[in-house]
Amino acid sequence: MSSSDQIPFSSNDDNFAYHNKLHFNSEAKNMESDPFNLMVAKKCGEAIINEIKSELDPDKTEVMDFACGTGLISQALCPYVKSIMGVDSAQAMVDEFNKKIWQQGIDESEMKAICLDLKESEGDQLDGRKFDFVVVGISILQCASAYHHISDIAAITRILASYLKPSGKLIVLDITKDPELVDKFKYFQDKHKHVEHTVAHKGGFYHNEIEEVFLNTRVLEDVKVEIAFTFNKFLEKDQKEYTFKYLIAKGRKKE
Ligand SMILES: C[S@@+](CC[C@H](N)C(=O)[O-])C[C@H]1O[C@@H](n2cnc3c(N)ncnc32)[C@H](O)[C@@H]1O
Repeated sequence: MSSSDQIPFSSNDDNFAYHNKLHFNSEAKNMESDPFNLMVAKKCGEAIINEIKSELDPDKTEVMDFACGTGLISQALCPYVKSIMGVDSAQAMVDEFNKKIWQQGIDESEMKAICLDLKESEGDQLDGRKFDFVVVGISILQCASAYHHISDIAAITRILASYLKPSGKLIVLDITKDPELVDKFKYFQDKHKHVEHTVAHKGGFYHNEIEEVFLNTRVLEDVKVEIAFTFNKFLEKDQKEYTFKYLIAKGRKKE
């Protein structure tokens, strides 16, 4: 049975959350088998590190990797920071993340993932823990980043900002929406049926959308959204190569 067969789909938050959990719980073991995903994850890790490298301190910096998946972004950041907490709503992803940590002999106090649905109605779900950076990375094109999967990005941005220390930074990577390429995502949707039910924002975001959401939290300042990197992908259906752009959004929590 596919994830989309389980319950009737309607595009509200709980429904996307439900289908994402089903999909990513079943995909966790395959997440790192596609070289293309690994290449995009590597570029994301590099983009985040380039952005914040001068602010990272291996003795002090505490990071939350939201929607951490199997930990590709966390692994890239690990050498530069004191600790990373991965948060993901799919238990199987969290299990893969923690298995890798265990296999590498990394102590849980340095890196660990937990399975959690962050919700505004629940208030503080991390016992007062706050972070210098909250990063939201990406690894696969057909369903892009975690932001893509979440229908209420205003709410998740407020929630993530609430876990930042004063002056801490929220960094989000996602796909830049390009009107000329929006229909190309239909290709991914046709090829990967789950996309209809797991991706709330198909085709990505316009930069001003994300900027507005960050600013509307009223706690984030110095907000900037720019192109992080691009890559070309050949789409068999069109027998043509297209350039996809990834955005990096940053905002600093007010003192
Ligand atoms: C495409 S994967 C990206 C994983 C990771 N950031 C990376 O770059 O390798 C998307 C991840 O988002 C998680 N996810 C989707 N919706 C979520 C939510 N509402 N809260 C937490 N995690 C979520 C999924 O379980 C999945 O692990």
